[in-house]
Amino acid sequence: MSDFDLESWRVRLGEACEGTRFSSAEVLPTCRSTQDVAATLPTGSVVAAGEQSAGRGRRGRQWSDGGGRSASISFVVDSMASARLSTASVLAVLDSITSLGGRKSSVGCKFPNDVVDRGGLKLAGVLVEGNVDRMVIGIGLNVVPLAEEPASISLEGLGIHTTRIDVMKALLRALDRRLSCEVNRLRADFAANDVLLGRGVVLKHHQQRFTGTLVACDPFGMLVVDTTEGHRAIPAEQCTILEWSV
Ligand code: BTN
Repeated sequence: MSDFDLESWRVRLGEACEGTRFSSAEVLPTCRSTQDVAATLPTGSVVAAGEQSAGRGRRGRQWSDGGGRSASISFVVDSMASARLSTASVLAVLDSITSLGGRKSSVGCKFPNDVVDRGGLKLAGVLVEGNVDRMVIGIGLNVVPLAEEPASISLEGLGIHTTRIDVMKALLRALDRRLSCEVNRLRADFAANDVLLGRGVVLKHHQQRFTGTLVACDPFGMLVVDTTEGHRAIPAEQCTILEWSV
């Protein structure tokens, strides 16, 4: 049964905006993508949907909310480097999980934009889009299990029983705090929660592939892979993780 309630979501998200950089919350029963709605709104806007019919992820992927099983929310913010926005957002997801009673050690971040459990199952994804004027941060976080996505996990699967509106309120407040963090703090906190460090990876940068063990991962700088030919430092920008071993 869906936990969607238009009026209560509007009121509760509006309350969550108080004292933050976010000034107004729009709630839609359904839309194609909250990203598209948010892109038409000014900085400080928040858009949440009970369901998305065409949710999207990074690199042209689809994002399915399993018919209203995930928290789907977009935030319009001032333009900033997208690495800063995505790193702050991933850490905000981790902060909100802790604030909802989850154990920090059960989940971690996977460069650049995912939150996964320690077995590699995806819990949440972040999509940053925009232009020189403003950016839209979209966060999708699974709250109850998505039967059709076997490589995913939900908060319920991690033993956190909550509602989507409570998740979105926690995300809003955590994101507001994380967007004020210095880059060095974001870098350190990302490293402390990085699930890829020490794992076997295949990375792609432009047309080149690198296979080996990931020994450093700085979203604002370089990823370093220990390959059979020695250490290779690869700029984080434009770097894609093609494979990783759990
Ligand atoms: C990814 O995993 O590649 C990112 C997924 C981002 C999904 C969220 S849900 C809210 C917002 N609306 C969308 O269409 N996408 C983002």
